[in-house]
Amino acid sequence: MYHRPMIHAVYPGSFDPLHNGHLDVIRRATRIFGRLTVAVLHNPGKRDQMFSAAERVEIIRQATEGMENVTADTFDGLLADYVRILGADVIVKGLRAISDFEYELQMAHLNRQLNPKAETAFIMTATRWSYLSSTRVKELARYGADVSKLVPSATLRFLETKNPGSGR
Ligand code: PNS
Repeated sequence: MYHRPMIHAVYPGSFDPLHNGHLDVIRRATRIFGRLTVAVLHNPGKRDQMFSAAERVEIIRQATEGMENVTADTFDGLLADYVRILGADVIVKGLRAISDFEYELQMAHLNRQLNPKAETAFIMTATRWSYLSSTRVKELARYGADVSKLVPSATLRFLETKNPGSGR
């Protein structure tokens, strides 16, 4: 029987909040890597934040329930240091379009310089989610628009607590 090598990958992000594009990357990553830590950046100073880091982690925990090799965590400081402390091998980043690539390439090179042991791997989001971002989800939810086709049900429940009516 083939055993998937126990490669530990970290998927970092703001996840404010988790949407279907993120979940798609998580699912794809779990098929490649033995263990996946979804790492929420603790960034209390960030503008336009809707959810605390604890809330964002809880959404991810609920949305990935049943995915045995996925854990959710928070981190602050440099990603390269967090990955080193965790002893992880890979940094997973999602790519929606070519426009994401330039920024991600820069980050990948800098992270490689800071932590040469960690390899960055890019996973392409399904095209149906290529237009999706947490910023747009928050904007739609604030206007009371129906975002139920864009986010997992866990996110929908949390959005509803902040923006009554968005979970229609
Ligand atoms: O979902 P986002 O906001 O695009 O995620 C960006 C994130 C969290 C991956 C990035 O901002 C990050 O890694 N922040 C931690 C600080 C750090 O390591 N900066 C990069 C130096 S090369």
